[in-house]
Amino acid sequence: MTLNRRTFLTTSLALLGAPRVSLAAPFVLRAEPVTAQILPVGDGVTQMLGFNGSTPGPELRFREGDTLDMRFDNAIGEGSAVHWHGIRIDNAMDGVPYLTQTIVEDGEYFDYRFTLPDAGTYWYHSHNRSWEQVARGLYGPLIVEEKTPPKVDHDITVMIDDWRIERTGDTIEDFGNRHDFSHAGRLGTFAKVIPSMFEVRRGDRVRLRLINVATARVFPLEIAGLKGKVVALDGMPLDTPQDIGPLMIAPAQRMDIIADVSETVKFIFPTRQDPYEMGEIIVRGENPSPSSTNIEALLRPYAPQPATTPDHDLTMALQGGAMGGAHGGDDIWSLNGVSGLSDDPWQTFKRGETARIKLVNETSFPHGIHLHGHHFYELEPDGTLGPMRDTTLLQRQETRDIVCVFDNPGKWLLHCHMLGHQASGMKTWVQVT
Ligand code: C2O
Ligand code: CU
Repeated sequence: MTLNRRTFLTTSLALLGAPRVSLAAPFVLRAEPVTAQILPVGDGVTQMLGFNGSTPGPELRFREGDTLDMRFDNAIGEGSAVHWHGIRIDNAMDGVPYLTQTIVEDGEYFDYRFTLPDAGTYWYHSHNRSWEQVARGLYGPLIVEEKTPPKVDHDITVMIDDWRIERTGDTIEDFGNRHDFSHAGRLGTFAKVIPSMFEVRRGDRVRLRLINVATARVFPLEIAGLKGKVVALDGMPLDTPQDIGPLMIAPAQRMDIIADVSETVKFIFPTRQDPYEMGEIIVRGENPSPSSTNIEALLRPYAPQPATTPDHDLTMALQGGAMGGAHGGDDIWSLNGVSGLSDDPWQTFKRGETARIKLVNETSFPHGIHLHGHHFYELEPDGTLGPMRDTTLLQRQETRDIVCVFDNPGKWLLHCHMLGHQASGMKTWVQVT
């Protein structure tokens, strides 16, 4: 499915920023049906699900070490639960129905209370029938600020999403179809970015927190109008910030950029034909005293030391899907030949053990593999430790080693974040005792 081309009215974006909220306890996060202006103003509206009246839900902002204390109120008409993606969380608060909590039925509530140990860019989203509930809008940003945040003029969250909607704005009601599940997932017909701020000055230093909240689409991304560095991936600071080249961001992945604005900031999805513009941050005025300090590496608060010889040396084969042959039956995808959650964990680790896992994508599609409750190192081809992530992208037929120190006790999901793949088998779980 290709993306419809639309011209952006910059004013249309202003209606869509996630409202920031004050977090005086008790804070209620209420999931409910909402109406959203996904298409530019003047085009139709879309019936969605959201939190506290909007999709995306409110931007939740905390300081490293804070406690999140929130009542989740479910009013969407079916069961749900909230997962706090990327947080090194207390297992009971991880929000996975059937594994860490009972489902929160419509009309019921659940109290989430946990500490936020690491600064970074995270997000929250439904973890029940997520291929539909997240696609309908049940997500929002969760930002944990450093104790001493790097100095910037604006800290801007930018969510990237696509929607499968008609030109009228109506949702195409084809959730959960087998064709999407067995191919690349439910790709949208319309894509854009949702920045939390829409106007900056030339010379301003900005921190952009990109979050791919799409259920299936891997976004290639070019950002014009900025000079600076990628400073963190999946919330974890990089030892050496990277240049802002052409970027690639898989579902659920995050990327922090610190950069100086030289002109209108444009978010461009390069396609084989013309580039597709996903939105912009306009420039008005001039910063009279732009920052001239270097964009250094941020602190790295969490950097577990893996054992040089791992306690476990494992392989996980990603299998199935269309053109994948092998796996028949109702379940379309599998991990090491097993489709869906089994009663027993794939592996049990003693707290603190190191595992090296060779991820082998035997399929014809990309997958973004996400581990709950932990971050892991991607290994560079020469075997050295690369960036820490909670979601790693494997292109078709690609192999990657990851190393994880399993230091958080509990039952943790390991699954594809192409949410239709997760729904049709590409998931398992591990236990840390
Ligand atoms: Cu962001 Cu199991 O999910
Ligand atoms: Cu997948």
